[in-house]
Amino acid sequence: MNWEALLAPYTQVVEELKVKLKGMRAQFEYESRHSPIEFITGRVKPVQSIMEKAESRRVPLNRIEQDIQDIAGVRVVCQFVDDIYTVVDMLRARHDLEIIEEKDYIVEKKDSGYRSFHMIIEYPVGTIHGEKKVLAEIQIRTLAMNFWATNEHSLNYKYKGSIPKEIKTRLQRAAEAAFKLDEEMSKIRNEVQEAQRIFHRK
Ligand code: GTP
Ligand code: MG
Repeated sequence: MNWEALLAPYTQVVEELKVKLKGMRAQFEYESRHSPIEFITGRVKPVQSIMEKAESRRVPLNRIEQDIQDIAGVRVVCQFVDDIYTVVDMLRARHDLEIIEEKDYIVEKKDSGYRSFHMIIEYPVGTIHGEKKVLAEIQIRTLAMNFWATNEHSLNYKYKGSIPKEIKTRLQRAAEAAFKLDEEMSKIRNEVQEAQRIFHRK
C-alpha cells in the first residue's frame, strides 16, 4: 500500500479547508464583527489509526477512501453555541464543497456526554492526475465542548477505550457542567461581546 500517495490529497484538503475557514474569520475581523470562529485545527489521520479503524470495521484496504470518512479532519472551535450554527449555515452556502451528511450531537448528545456538530463533506481537490473528490469530516464545537472532548479523549486513550464506570459518570457530569457554562455564556453574550469590542479597540 502506497500510503504517501493515498494520503497526499487528504493533506491538500486539510490545508485548503484551514485556509478557507481562516479566511472567513479574517473577514469578520476586517469588518470588526464578532467572528463565529475562535480557532481552527486540522489533521490527517495517522496511518496506524486508519489501519486500526479499517480492521475494527472490516473495511478492506481498497475501500478505505469511501468507507473511512475522517481521514481528513478539520475542527472549528467557536465561543458560543449560536456561532456553531452560523458556521454551519456558512458552510451550507458554499459551492466549493458538497455536504454528504450532518450529525447534530448538540441537540442529541452522545451517551458519553459528547457534544459537537459534525459534517461529512465531499471536496474536490486538484491533483496532477486531474480532479479527485475526497471525503472530509468537519467538527464544529464550542470551547467548552472542546475542553471536555479533549480531556475525555485523553482518558479514552489512557484506558484503551474502556473508561471505569465511576470516571464515566464523572465525565457525563462534567459534560453537563460544560453545557451549562455554554448556556450561561449565551445568556450574557451581548455583555461579553461589548467588553471584547472595547478591549479590541484599546
Ligand atoms: P468514529 O469511528 O469515532 O469515527 O465514529 P463514527 O464514524 O460513528 O462517527 P461519529 O460521528 O460518532 O464520531 C466521529 C468523531 O467524533 C470521532 O472520531 C471523534 O473525533 C469524535 N467523537 C465522537 N464521539 C466522541 C466521544 O464520545 N468523545 C470524544 N472525545 N470524541 C468523540
Ligand atoms: Mg467517523
